[in-house]
Amino acid sequence: GEVRKTTNVVCTISNDTGEEPTYVRVPISEIMSDHTIGDVISLLWFKTLFPKWATKFIELVLVTAADHGPCVSGAHNTIVAARAGKDLISSLCSGLLTIGPRFGGAVDAAAINFKTASDNHIPPDEFVESLKKKGQRVEGIGHRIKTAENRDKRVELLANYAKEHFPRMDTFNYAKKVEAYTLQKANNLVLNIDGAIGSLFADMLGGVGKYTDSEVMEVLELGGLNGLFTLSRSIGFIGHALDQKRMKQPLYRHPWDDVLYAEPERPSRLVDN
Ligand code: ACO
Ligand code: LMR
Repeated sequence: GEVRKTTNVVCTISNDTGEEPTYVRVPISEIMSDHTIGDVISLLWFKTLFPKWATKFIELVLVTAADHGPCVSGAHNTIVAARAGKDLISSLCSGLLTIGPRFGGAVDAAAINFKTASDNHIPPDEFVESLKKKGQRVEGIGHRIKTAENRDKRVELLANYAKEHFPRMDTFNYAKKVEAYTLQKANNLVLNIDGAIGSLFADMLGGVGKYTDSEVMEVLELGGLNGLFTLSRSIGFIGHALDQKRMKQPLYRHPWDDVLYAEPERPSRLVDN
């Protein structure tokens, strides 16, 4: 009889073996005629088709996080690499490699932590203090230049969209209560863009009518939300690389007068023992 060969790879999101590629069985011709990039992310990342208000939110995240100027760590790295003559992909990767727990990569942890604490009705002060006791920072809180008096407009704009379209905003509202508490400690401990994207995305997942709260957590555990920041900020990094190339900027060398040279005393060689 027929012997079925076992495959080395299983793929459940797309198929390129037919006449027309499909994303979770939706032919790309259909996607091209009446779907958006938010729908494509919904299909390929989450294997579902979220309602339009939700895929529009995904697109607004892509727009709002696409760039934050040349001074943020990732854009700076991209610019330095481009000015060292590196190609576009290398310059982009140089920037992407800075995305992590301090910069742009706190989205997943913020979503998971805020949602867990909110669902379990942990008082915000207790939530902050328990992290502090463990020597951990509150992911999604804090900014180098944004303060209570100079809030991050992006956070407000995304929240305004959510207020108009989301069925629930409990995780975001909880994150705002955490911010109210951390702002009593220092005025730059604002809810940042990572925290806003994370908490709002958790609310979006909770509002699409597909997942229970524990299923939302399972989706968040996949770690896709840092991917959303990465995808969005790649647009900006590519822009910065092209900007430098276009202007034929020379090799970047950091100025001496911006470095505190602080070598210790010259050491004597340690004696073998
Ligand atoms: N939770 C608790 N305490 C904090 C936090 C936080 N999120 N952020 C700063 N602090 C405290 C520090 O522990 C420190 O306290 P100390 O003086 O008692 O030691 C004080 O605030 C100053 O810390 P710095 O590291 O100098 O703060 P800075 O302003 O440089 O940090 C940063 C900014 C890196 C964003 C920080 O707030 C942080 O790590 N936040 C959590 C991670 C995060 O959300 N990152 C995403 C930022 S948005 C983006 O990148 C797109
Ligand atoms: C960003 O979007 O890159 C930030 O909020 C971080 C920053 O320092 O501006």
